[in-house]
Amino acid sequence: MPGRKELLKMSSWKKLEAHFSEMKDIHMRTLFSDDRSRGERYRIIHNNIYFDYSKNIINDRTLQLLVELADEVNLRTEIERMFTGEIINETEKRPVLHVALRNRSGNAVYVEGRDVMPDIYAVLEKMHKASDDIRSGRWTGFTGKPIKNIVNIGIGGSDLGPVMVCEALKYYSQRDINNFFVSNIDSTHITEVLQRTDPGETLFIVASKTFTTMETMTNAETARRWIVEHLGSEQAVAYHFIALSTNSAAVAKFGIKTDNMFEFWDWVGGRYSLTSAIGLSIMISIGYENFIELLEGFHDMDNHFRHAPFKENIPVLMALLGVWYNNFFGSHTYALLPYEQYLHRFPAYFQQGDMESNGKSVTRSGARVTYSTGPVIWGEPGTNGQHAFYQLMHQGTSIIPADFIGFIKPLNPVADHHDKLIANMFAQSEAFAFGKTESEVRAEGVDGKLVPYRVFEGNRPSNTILCPRLTPEVLGSLIAMYEHKIFTQGIIWDIFSFDQWGVELGKLLAGRILGELSSFNSPADEHDSSTKALISHYRSITRE
Ligand code: F6P
Repeated sequence: MPGRKELLKMSSWKKLEAHFSEMKDIHMRTLFSDDRSRGERYRIIHNNIYFDYSKNIINDRTLQLLVELADEVNLRTEIERMFTGEIINETEKRPVLHVALRNRSGNAVYVEGRDVMPDIYAVLEKMHKASDDIRSGRWTGFTGKPIKNIVNIGIGGSDLGPVMVCEALKYYSQRDINNFFVSNIDSTHITEVLQRTDPGETLFIVASKTFTTMETMTNAETARRWIVEHLGSEQAVAYHFIALSTNSAAVAKFGIKTDNMFEFWDWVGGRYSLTSAIGLSIMISIGYENFIELLEGFHDMDNHFRHAPFKENIPVLMALLGVWYNNFFGSHTYALLPYEQYLHRFPAYFQQGDMESNGKSVTRSGARVTYSTGPVIWGEPGTNGQHAFYQLMHQGTSIIPADFIGFIKPLNPVADHHDKLIANMFAQSEAFAFGKTESEVRAEGVDGKLVPYRVFEGNRPSNTILCPRLTPEVLGSLIAMYEHKIFTQGIIWDIFSFDQWGVELGKLLAGRILGELSSFNSPADEHDSSTKALISHYRSITRE
């Protein structure tokens, strides 16, 4: 990073600009007809992952220039800086070492000269014991009943990762233990969960890196009152609450004993924390062995990212292609389309992963960026999206690049469902890329006036990620793949991907307004007239 040249002044960027003017009007129909082996040439097969990136508006020259860009931004050095524990989260003065959490190599990882692996193994072992005790019924509540309901109370990274993985790996879960997730401060969320659970059989996992987040602490206090009220004793808290946190003082103050606290460290970012203690609800659901398999999958992708040459490196290529569309074609949104019902929270998970990481507008040296950075990430599982928003993707005015994610073998085979599912996935990427020309429409005998409506321009880019089967290991690799894509794009855009200062202002103002909602004084003058009127109107109705 020292002395890093401005992105738009880099020689590879200038070459890409010139190259873009040659590529922008080229259609994928031409690219495919000019090269009959394109589908085999533009793909990477790494262990369980088949990554097809042939349906992009690129040629060999594009790839060469994009890889040149990765070299020019010193991506290789930056990757090493992360993996070796340098303080790359400069605004929070921390290393970024989620890769250590799933380091299965047996090698040491140092933070300020100290190997952090023994601490990581110790917490994993503690999680192992607790999850075995809970799954086997050995862990009993205050009234002696085994635990049947796990309620994870957390938000953002302390919620989305566990919920996404518990859903994704539900097939491997122990079915007599129910997993609930409470995140929203809206009391409806916790009320609906508490209505469905027996206090004597319920274990709350309060997941919060800081143990100060308003939503989580409010929900945790409500859960605590509910336990004490229903089980009739303050002592019940010790049996029904676990904390996952870096803040042992706040955990103790809440009344959770040290034995029931699972620690992690400030070099684990919230949205990169699901393989830390934050993953306890996952381990309880799928068991220790499956959790270790998940870590193995992460680790394999970490190694691939760290060592594979850029032109054969899946996360790097994904990132470079994303930059190609974002910064050259002006595509500012990106769709994640898993054709797998179990992955229904995958897009929501990477909404935080990507948008909280790369939704930044100041470079690492403090200047305002002069180019666009992180895109809006969104998506739904196939085939639901096809009957909702795909219309815009096919015939709307913007180009929306997309990733299709599918699995060859279904976990729940029933009749021909799976072939139909995957036929739809392949069909959509084909339709996006090639569309349907006017002459093809006419040849179908479509009435003259209707022809323009029936034309599909095509040339809509996508990647297809195909894996043999959804296993914990494959899921780990897929998550790590997207994490490293985000890292790579952050380096190219020269932004800090591991802080999130943009969430602070809202938190501060909410704290201020909270006091005013119950006060009899008029709203503070420093508010604008809209906010003041909203507060006054709210108060007038709540006091009716
Ligand atoms: O939304 C901001 C944020 O800090 C996220 O980055 C984080 O995942 C979430 O809040 C929850 O934070 P905590 O785990 O400290 O409660």
